[in-house]
Amino acid sequence: MNIITVKDYNELSRTAGSLIVELLQRKPDATLGLATGSTPLGTYRYLVERYRAGDISLKAAQTFNLDEYCGLPRCHPQSYYHFMYENLFRHVDIQPDNVHIPCTEAGDLQAQCDAYNALLNRSCVDLQLLGIGSNGHIGFCEPGTPFDRETFLTRLSEQTRLDNQRFFNSLEEVPTTAITMGIRNILQARSIVLIASGRAKAECVAQMINGPITEQVPASALRQHADVTVILDEEAASLL
Ligand code: PGA
Repeated sequence: MNIITVKDYNELSRTAGSLIVELLQRKPDATLGLATGSTPLGTYRYLVERYRAGDISLKAAQTFNLDEYCGLPRCHPQSYYHFMYENLFRHVDIQPDNVHIPCTEAGDLQAQCDAYNALLNRSCVDLQLLGIGSNGHIGFCEPGTPFDRETFLTRLSEQTRLDNQRFFNSLEEVPTTAITMGIRNILQARSIVLIASGRAKAECVAQMINGPITEQVPASALRQHADVTVILDEEAASLL
């Protein structure tokens, strides 16, 4: 793992965003694996800035998102579909046909998992952006997820639901299930960039980097990948 520690969230966002800009400039038809949550917001703001400055285009790029809640329609303000359009896609020239986000609106969720997985297996993600959950999850692969898992219907851990409660009116409103890429899908990306910010991430970051490689810490699977960059602000790096 290539570990980069920066001063604060702004520098973290610029550093991660610059890696994506460099990729798009080198390979305009790159395939990006994208993440949601609070951490990537600054990275997406940076990409929008660079797009507005004329430095990049996403016209030929493809994107695959890591996950999507079940039980929220795509128009719901907390769906990840909505998140991606609000925070990135509607501000840049990405082609809607090139955007891939697991669909949880249809009744047969297993069929949706299979379809998303097949699409992923026909593609090759050049750069996968990841956050990390306070419990060490990546995507919605919660502790205990086998490392060879492909796209699946997952049950959110209590910790994840508590962490994400801040986006909803109450804990009851936080979905209990989601479709997520599996760890095997994530590890198939050519390169991986994981970003973590703040003291609340220090413990899981330390476990990912220095603890045992174990399914109890899903992010520890990343140590089996040859091209992982971890970008941390000082607080997230404070237990290393
Ligand atoms: P956060 O979520 O960026 O909102 O902290 C990270 C994650 O759960 O992967």
